[in-house]
Amino acid sequence: MRWQDKVVIVTGSASGIGAAAAKLFALEGAKVVATDIQLAGVQAVVEDIGKNGGEAIALSHNVASNADWKAVIDRAMAEFGRIDVLLNNAGVADKQPMPVSTAETTDNEDWDRVIDINLKGVFLGIKHILPVLRTGGGGSIINISSIAAMVGNGGPFAYSASKGGIRSLTKHVAFHYGRFNIRANSIHPGGVKTAMTEADFQNEDLAKQLTATIPLGRLSEPQEIANVALFLASDESSYLTGAELVADGGAIIA
Ligand SMILES: NC(=O)c1ccc[n+]([C@@H]2O[C@H](COP(=O)([O-])OP(=O)(O)OC[C@H]3O[C@@H](n4cnc5c(N)ncnc54)[C@H](O)[C@@H]3O)[C@@H](O)[C@H]2O)c1
Repeated sequence: MRWQDKVVIVTGSASGIGAAAAKLFALEGAKVVATDIQLAGVQAVVEDIGKNGGEAIALSHNVASNADWKAVIDRAMAEFGRIDVLLNNAGVADKQPMPVSTAETTDNEDWDRVIDINLKGVFLGIKHILPVLRTGGGGSIINISSIAAMVGNGGPFAYSASKGGIRSLTKHVAFHYGRFNIRANSIHPGGVKTAMTEADFQNEDLAKQLTATIPLGRLSEPQEIANVALFLASDESSYLTGAELVADGGAIIA
């Protein structure tokens, strides 16, 4: 199995895209370090992986905490001796949903919370993983951004700003670390059926409005985004760095 000796960290893997990705990497034979702020949730995912013959550990991890990142990297190295892939997936949306969230309605506390988790969380992960990847001879960093980084109506306000930041910092890392055989790419999903979008899509009018403009006419399953992450983690994408893969059913070209 080509993934047999590879170690992959997936943040925010208690649910949604992260859970699908952790399971997919494990199924391919990778050793998975599944982390989330919800420990019970990520333990259930790891239990599921084990039942299917995969290898994974579950770690409690707040991505906005520098100390937590250090502990996660140390534990992954102690357990598996190397790390090859970091999938920065954990994320949250603004308190206010998409149609009402604007610069004016966003309070400072919510801005700080969203930026801390979504953007600082990715920065910290990259900062901690780079020395490990350099020592190990290279690796792949995959950051989950969003189409909200590209268009004005793709998400709530602070969320969109955080995803725009992820889009830029990915290219910065790709530029500066290519010579160490470290690749960095971002994924830009459109609407995915996860806990994050549940409330939006319970609103029938909004759901209709959001899917009407998607050429493929539907939302994505978490597995479809996990497949893109698997591609970016694998040697099949060996010449991709600083790239942004849009996985949105065609939403932003409509
Ligand atoms: N669902 C969508 O339509 C969509 C679209 C574009 C991008 N995304 C992005 O995909 C990623 C995954 O989201 P999802 O849709 O699977 O949502 P989700 O809510 O199902 O999963 C997010 C996970 O992140 C975890 N998390 C939240 N705060 C954390 C923290 N501080 N530290 C560690 N973990 C934390 C949650 O516990 C949860 O398990 C996010 O970055 C999100 O912004 C989602």
